[in-house]
Amino acid sequence: IAPIERRLSGLRAQTAAWRKAGESIGVVPTMGALHQGHLSLARAARERCDRVIVTIFVNPKQFNNPDDLDSYPRTEGDDAKKLESIGVDLIYVPDPEQIYPNGFATTVSVSGLTDMLCGADRAGHFDGVATVVTKLFLQTQADFAFFGEKDYQQLQVVRQLARDLDIPIEVIGCPTIREEDGLAMSSRNLLLSDRSRIKAPVLAEVMEDMRDQLQKGEGMQQITEPAKARLLAAGFTQVDYLELRDGQNLSLLDQSLPGARLFAAAWLAGVRLIDNIAV
Ligand code: PAJ
Repeated sequence: IAPIERRLSGLRAQTAAWRKAGESIGVVPTMGALHQGHLSLARAARERCDRVIVTIFVNPKQFNNPDDLDSYPRTEGDDAKKLESIGVDLIYVPDPEQIYPNGFATTVSVSGLTDMLCGADRAGHFDGVATVVTKLFLQTQADFAFFGEKDYQQLQVVRQLARDLDIPIEVIGCPTIREEDGLAMSSRNLLLSDRSRIKAPVLAEVMEDMRDQLQKGEGMQQITEPAKARLLAAGFTQVDYLELRDGQNLSLLDQSLPGARLFAAAWLAGVRLIDNIAV
């Protein structure tokens, strides 16, 4: 089983030894409750890097709502077992004060990309993500970082902060892993009741149908309202967004262009599900 490190000093001692030996380091930042989506990132890192660090930290700064933070699943023992088969070198589970010591006062804030989608209705969420990811990059001194396209906006935000702050790390995006019925894997899926779990794949189904319509040349203006109505009819209680955007700068589109992606966030029985697909 991979060693678990809870202190920055221990992490630094390990990575210094690896660097001295000329070994490349990959990091996979997570909040735990690991599923096949996370494990696919760890495998990608395992293939690409000499040393692999998976970090597990439920980052309070990126939650807008204390109930959401409290209800976030925590399964450290199981997580460590799942990582065993992949052969990661170190699991970094920092004690909270290793990330946010008393008196911590700095925020990393990426403008532009964070105004829309999950940034529009979740004030401070991406500041929390950008701040913790910057810290994890600097603490691990990794050469490569692996992020899922499941959180596509987050991936673009992380790319931007690494570029803007000259952090010498290559950010690698990895495809979304789905359940057999199409539902994008997410730690939050554990919060769905059996009845809601049956309804959840409708989100991906509706998005695939929209993609087909967009590929035939239809515009978002015609197809968005019927798609929202379908989600509500299927039991979703609210659609936060259902939008076509450029995959690089995330600017809003009406019709499909090369590189366009469809983004959705919707609530099912108190659980917010997000998904995105290439069009
Ligand atoms: P978390 O939600 O645990 O996700 C960790 C990583 O796993 C992210 O890069 C996410 O995009 C990826 N991931 C989640 N579900 C996936 C799926 N179905 N397929 C592929 N990749 C998937 O994202 C976070 O944590 C946090 O915001 C973090 C970056 C760790 C900062 O706190």
